[in-house]
Amino acid sequence: MNSELEEEVDRLSEKGLLSLGYGEAELERLAALTLRLGRLKKERQAVIAAHVYQRPEVIHGAADFIGDSYKLAKDCAGVAARRIVFCGVRFMAETAKILNPEKEVFLPAPEAGCSLAESISSAEVRRLKAEHPGAPVVCYINTTAEVKAECDCVVTSANASKILKRLFAGHKKIVFLPDEWMGRNLASELGRKIGRELVVWKGRCIVHENFDASSVRLYRRTYPGVKILAHAECSPALVKLADFVGGTGGMMRYIRRTSAPHYMLVTECGLGDYARGEMPEKAFIPMCRLCPYMKMTSLSSVLQTLEAPRPAQRVEVKPEIAAKARKALERMFELAE
Ligand code: 13P
Ligand code: SF4
Repeated sequence: MNSELEEEVDRLSEKGLLSLGYGEAELERLAALTLRLGRLKKERQAVIAAHVYQRPEVIHGAADFIGDSYKLAKDCAGVAARRIVFCGVRFMAETAKILNPEKEVFLPAPEAGCSLAESISSAEVRRLKAEHPGAPVVCYINTTAEVKAECDCVVTSANASKILKRLFAGHKKIVFLPDEWMGRNLASELGRKIGRELVVWKGRCIVHENFDASSVRLYRRTYPGVKILAHAECSPALVKLADFVGGTGGMMRYIRRTSAPHYMLVTECGLGDYARGEMPEKAFIPMCRLCPYMKMTSLSSVLQTLEAPRPAQRVEVKPEIAAKARKALERMFELAE
């Protein structure tokens, strides 16, 4: 092994890959890829954004920006590079393209969708608007560009509560889509009636709908003092039992500022892997599920996208759709800050 490769293997190990169970041969294979990737990024004037649910080798071996949906949208909005390669799912890459119409945006896994984004069409949003005239329509960022284009404001798990509170100051009724459980969780947090004050859609996240509230009770008995953190897409029954409810960025901040014998992250497994690498001194109890879409991106597909992207990996949003969706995203930045 040459010294450059050895240093890269050590860097990946220190980032937590060794303690996550990656063997020496695997680390050596990944290090060779990440070194090539680093050189290609410079040549291609590209930056790589990775959601925290991505595979550890993608996060630590490729990414310039790491974070939740809100942070990544903001990071991409201010980027100077010519190209953005998005390691995540389609709605995230579309958001990057909407905010950077002049840049080339690529999604290494073009088939990486999201059950929430697929749960509602733009025609269904138009129908909701006709049924609730005058009510602002707020969409979760987990939506297609066409759906965002029909909405007044976008929110993410990091700012939904703050933005809805602000909008409720001027409106009696708000339409929130597409995540039903997140809508119900927000309504109970804000003391608003579902239907009369907060109209919700019927979308579900196929990952978070699988967590069961009754096992949370069992974990509390088994691990005294455990802090249970639930993503806001979890069921209202489960959220009621959690110590913290929010998005992945909020969960990381909560772990950093608290001290507990154990933490349980009720969300996609990638967050636990990331948190273990960032805070090796803390103890995490696994209770996670894999998102099949988030795990579609591999280090070699990122490399291939940088070397010779396939047409399907190029993200395009029609200019008239992008212009409308951008307004809803800008409203989010305005109300969230
Ligand atoms: P965050 O913005 O909280 O990272 O959530 C993204 C997501 O897809 C959750 O399932
Ligand atoms: Fe969509 Fe759920 Fe996967 Fe997030 S975890 S990308 S909400 S399917």
